[in-house]
Amino acid sequence: MKLSLRFVLPLILVLAAIAYIVAPLVDQLTLRWFMRDLDMRSSLIANTIQQPLLDLLEADRKSRIVDFFNNITKDERLYAIGYCASPAGKELVSRSLPSVIHCANLDRWAGSNGHLLPSAQGPLLVSVLPMTSSAAPEGRLVLVHDMSFITHRSEETKRYLFYFFMGLALVISLITVIVAQLSWRGWMSGVRSLLRGEGLLWQLAAGVQPSMPEFKPIARDLQRLVRELEAETRARDEDQITWSPESLRSILHSELRGEDIIVVSNREPYLHQRAGERIEIQRPASGLVTALEPIMRACSGTWIAHGSGTADREVVDKHDRVAVPPEKPAYQIRRVWLSQEEEAGYYYGFSNEGLWPLCHIAHVRPTFRTSDWDQYVAVNRKFAKAVVTESRTKNPIVLVQDYHFALLPKMIRDELPDATIIAFWHIPWPNPESFAICPWRDQVLEGLLGSSILGFHTQFHCNNFVDTVDRFIEARVDRESFTVSFGGKLTAVRRYPISIAWPPEAEMLQKPVPDCRSSIRQMLNLPAAHKLGIGVDRLDYTKGIMERFRAIERLLELNPEWIGQFTFVQVAAPTRSGIEEYRHHETQVREMAIRINARFDGKGPPPIVLKVEYHEPREIYEYFRAADLCFVSSLHDGMNLVAKEFVAARDDNRGVLILSQFTGAARELPEALIVNPYDADQCAAAMHIALTMPTEEQRDRMRLMRGLVAEFNVFRWAGRMLLDAAAMRRRSRLIDKTGREVT
Ligand code: G6P
Repeated sequence: MKLSLRFVLPLILVLAAIAYIVAPLVDQLTLRWFMRDLDMRSSLIANTIQQPLLDLLEADRKSRIVDFFNNITKDERLYAIGYCASPAGKELVSRSLPSVIHCANLDRWAGSNGHLLPSAQGPLLVSVLPMTSSAAPEGRLVLVHDMSFITHRSEETKRYLFYFFMGLALVISLITVIVAQLSWRGWMSGVRSLLRGEGLLWQLAAGVQPSMPEFKPIARDLQRLVRELEAETRARDEDQITWSPESLRSILHSELRGEDIIVVSNREPYLHQRAGERIEIQRPASGLVTALEPIMRACSGTWIAHGSGTADREVVDKHDRVAVPPEKPAYQIRRVWLSQEEEAGYYYGFSNEGLWPLCHIAHVRPTFRTSDWDQYVAVNRKFAKAVVTESRTKNPIVLVQDYHFALLPKMIRDELPDATIIAFWHIPWPNPESFAICPWRDQVLEGLLGSSILGFHTQFHCNNFVDTVDRFIEARVDRESFTVSFGGKLTAVRRYPISIAWPPEAEMLQKPVPDCRSSIRQMLNLPAAHKLGIGVDRLDYTKGIMERFRAIERLLELNPEWIGQFTFVQVAAPTRSGIEEYRHHETQVREMAIRINARFDGKGPPPIVLKVEYHEPREIYEYFRAADLCFVSSLHDGMNLVAKEFVAARDDNRGVLILSQFTGAARELPEALIVNPYDADQCAAAMHIALTMPTEEQRDRMRLMRGLVAEFNVFRWAGRMLLDAAAMRRRSRLIDKTGREVT
């Protein structure tokens, strides 16, 4: 089809050119040339016949003159000839002078180059020439040439030109077809060799070591370039995607069709709690759960987690599974049961008294006990078994969540070597010196290096991890591609900043902002115009709740006009209360709130309202929508999703976010008022600015932050990880097929 087009197209073009350009041009040119020729010929004839004509005129032999003229016009091109002695005289003519030409109208035909006169037998050229002899001062000769031969000549020329151009077009077409054929063959042989696994470029693009040793050095550079280009294209493509549950689902469908997806985390997304006769369902306060739940709804896999609700065992089937969300089941929770000893050692002990303070710079010393470590190892193994049981294939995609499961990636890898394991570390990763405190640091690192991809929220944490590996274990670290090669396996260390679902569930934004403002103020017994701040956290020492209270106190010291005019509501979800440090922290927080409130007692509503209890997400959103400011003062935080939730709750573009510089979120939301939570004066000043900020500025800042959270939402977080996993799987399938290793 394409070939015939290539052939026919030049021909059509040539024909069109001949018809519309060449032919009219040829006509015009030949006519002009011949007219000039004939006019010259007329002058020649006139000069030649002048003397004999004068002689005949002198002899007054008019009939001889006509004969003379008739003889001359025997020439095939000379059509007629005539002579006028004067304009008023009678013309002497050969037989065929057109009747329109008279002595009286000769001026009409005078002039250089002659005049065209159309006639039945074709165009005629009329030339009027004066006699040069003084014997006939007014005499003029009229010569009429037959120009029909020009039409024939021009037709002939056109015919020759047509043949010439057609020949030329044929040659061009043939050359085009031959060139196309040759390049098609070359391309085909390229494809064939590609299918046979030959060709340097193919090998480079596939990331395979070229068979020719002389190309190896250049190959590595080119492969790197190809990888960078791939990454760039992917990034560009991703920019085009509007990330939503639907786009995530379609990526799962197109890139990971029918793949087995398993999530493992300690905390489960739904807890069944016994409340007397009834069973209540609770959604825990956990950033991890907040982020992963919408993903699981979108991709319907299996979520393996510790069954920690008091009624959890009552609702599962015989495989310990329960379908959730309760209102519209979309995926399965597979519950793993832990004994008290296991929970004490693995969860409270090694995870939350060891790794948690180790990774957060919050000035709480980590505690490491061998008995906790043993439980940690045992529980990780228990979850690894659950993964193997739950996977329907030999190569599932397993998303391992957080510091509770540092050993799990390697344990899964040992059982399911072909699995794609994505581990995500939701908390910060400290510098190598800090991490070295852990007595089992090498095992933790080796366990994590069982992953195909290891994710952190920030590049800073990726760097810290790679530095730690580089310092303590025998692994090959490539800082350009950010990969670690350990035990013959490659782990990519990547930054995936986590986020929240966007748009938030409609139910969360159902109650209008003015209603939220008035109902919350009524509930707290506050006047309608009272200024309100909000803080929402687990009651954890890393969240900087005490530093926040200290800043509120400082605000009232520095700006006493806010006393009785401003109240800060601190929602603090009880957490990890099995740990002494947390119990102690709770006591300190409670005491501090009491002390500050007592200090300003009797001067209107209290500065702090502390609510140490579980709140439903809907209630939290109501607080967010009612508040004038939200204060996130974490001393150290991987990301902090409360900051993003506050932004998501403010569809009225009002409210000010004050955000600790030590959160991952601060890197993404620079339009918040960024503060150092340890600097009470700075935090107090930020609160004052927030409380007096003009609404236009609030709107401008909020709009920018909302734009960012909308674009970089949790579906993008998961989508990017899953796309990377899909690319890895494609690459390893290729290696399996070709038997060649990736560099
Ligand atoms: C942090 C951790 C999560 C954890 C959450 C709540 O966000 O990264 O893994 O689920 O805190 O803590 P909890 O101990 O109650 O699960």
